[in-house]
Amino acid sequence: MTPTIIPLPTACRFTGAAPFKLTARTPVVTSIRHAPLRRVAAQLAGRLGLAVAGTAKGPAITLRVEPALKKSLGTEGYRLSSRAAGVTIRAGTPAGVFYGTQSLRQLLPPETEKFGVGAAVGLAVPALEITDRPRFGWRGAMLDPARRFLSVAETKRFLDAMALHKLNVMHWHLIDDQGWRLEIKKYPKLTGIGAWRAESPVYGNREVGDGTPYGGYYTQAQAREIVAYAAERFITVVPEVELPGHAAAAIAAYPELGNRDVPGFAPTVSAHWGIHTYTYAPSEEVFEFLADVLAEVVAIFPSTYVHIGGDEAVKDQWEKSALAQQVIRQQGLKDEHELQSWFIRRVEKIIAAHGRRLIGWDEIQEGGLSPTATMMVWRDWKWAEHAIAHGNDVVMSPTSHCYLNFYQVDPKGANEPEAWGGLILLEDVYQLDPMPPGLKRGQEKQVLGVQGNMWGEYIPNAANLEYMAFPRLSALAEVGWSPLVRKDWADFRARLEPLLARLELMGVNFRRPRPGE
Ligand code: ACM
Repeated sequence: MTPTIIPLPTACRFTGAAPFKLTARTPVVTSIRHAPLRRVAAQLAGRLGLAVAGTAKGPAITLRVEPALKKSLGTEGYRLSSRAAGVTIRAGTPAGVFYGTQSLRQLLPPETEKFGVGAAVGLAVPALEITDRPRFGWRGAMLDPARRFLSVAETKRFLDAMALHKLNVMHWHLIDDQGWRLEIKKYPKLTGIGAWRAESPVYGNREVGDGTPYGGYYTQAQAREIVAYAAERFITVVPEVELPGHAAAAIAAYPELGNRDVPGFAPTVSAHWGIHTYTYAPSEEVFEFLADVLAEVVAIFPSTYVHIGGDEAVKDQWEKSALAQQVIRQQGLKDEHELQSWFIRRVEKIIAAHGRRLIGWDEIQEGGLSPTATMMVWRDWKWAEHAIAHGNDVVMSPTSHCYLNFYQVDPKGANEPEAWGGLILLEDVYQLDPMPPGLKRGQEKQVLGVQGNMWGEYIPNAANLEYMAFPRLSALAEVGWSPLVRKDWADFRARLEPLLARLELMGVNFRRPRPGE
């Protein structure tokens, strides 16, 4: 028997003893002087309508950090013990305790999400012993406000749903051809101009514009608010500053950043989806700009990793630009692909000077691989194998399994809202093993984890975003957390029903898979 928890814990034993009975008078006991622990306790207590206390005489939910447990449980693992005398969650870190509380949440009836313990009678947690730790350290989801802006409140709601699933990275695709979404104090036109497009393609006909100006951006204060909210849920926000391609919004704001010497140069914030030709010029002025932008970005986002995009950087403009060709010659580069790698390496130096690490889409290895860059693999698995063979770390986000903007059911006759295309079933996501085949001993640790991507082009609003995300992200959470040998599709489907009831009571939208799906 498995507990009704997604992602499934590493190990769980039902002891058969008397259960723990929870009432509105059960305290959440923790070391009040330990601020992170107190915050975890307050979140749990707040949801259930309980009080936090430093000690208790009777049955209690006790949360404890015991640093020595890091040895056996790592930085995110925990032990949860439930017996008549109380529930105890112990971990080596506050993050571990937090994940223990997420499991406890799912051991209680879904109604507690909305009503807490309240006047409920007979609430009980079965007697059990859980020992749990994640398979991967990077369990991510990407949001794309560049294409479709999400309010701070909507973003927080998504973070809440991520936390329930023990997902721990929110990759924030803040910049693209269709919009620059982060306030940069030194360059106010990035949002003054770059955050606004003339219109967007209409649903149902991608060639036609809707005639409605569209835009928005996060102030630095709002971005910090999101970072703090995520951190309270042990989620790291990894910002993406997309370069050298997908840069039309920035170049529309500051044309001097573009390849001004190419014919027909007339940048605008793009009102169409797809891949566009505007790339940053490989000029000193551009590197100064990027250094300034990245200085402000790292001041907002404490994440170790800074994502620099690097995907789909069309080389047309560099092929035609006399300046780009001059840089290729001066630097002894073979072609525009090597120019891209040279460009990325310069940006990596800027990031490294701040003590941070660069992650980028897998194209950044095409013109030579920086030994310290991490790849986010989205195209062919060969790019993972290539990066790993060269000693680089990877995060797996293959289009075949991880693109949550693809249809989740065949749209023919299914009355589905318009999606990007493709088809990735819930079970497809569940069956992913992100570990590339044929790895040598020791190379597994270069696979940092897995991530689902929610590209925003055909995501009209937050309700649709949640509909596309869940429950596929629930499946991906299990891929990222649970041991491969414990994965079981039929068992997951059975555990999914109570999770969907929980999401419903949390006010999170989702698509309910039909029986047999
Ligand atoms: C991507 O989907 N262009 C990373």
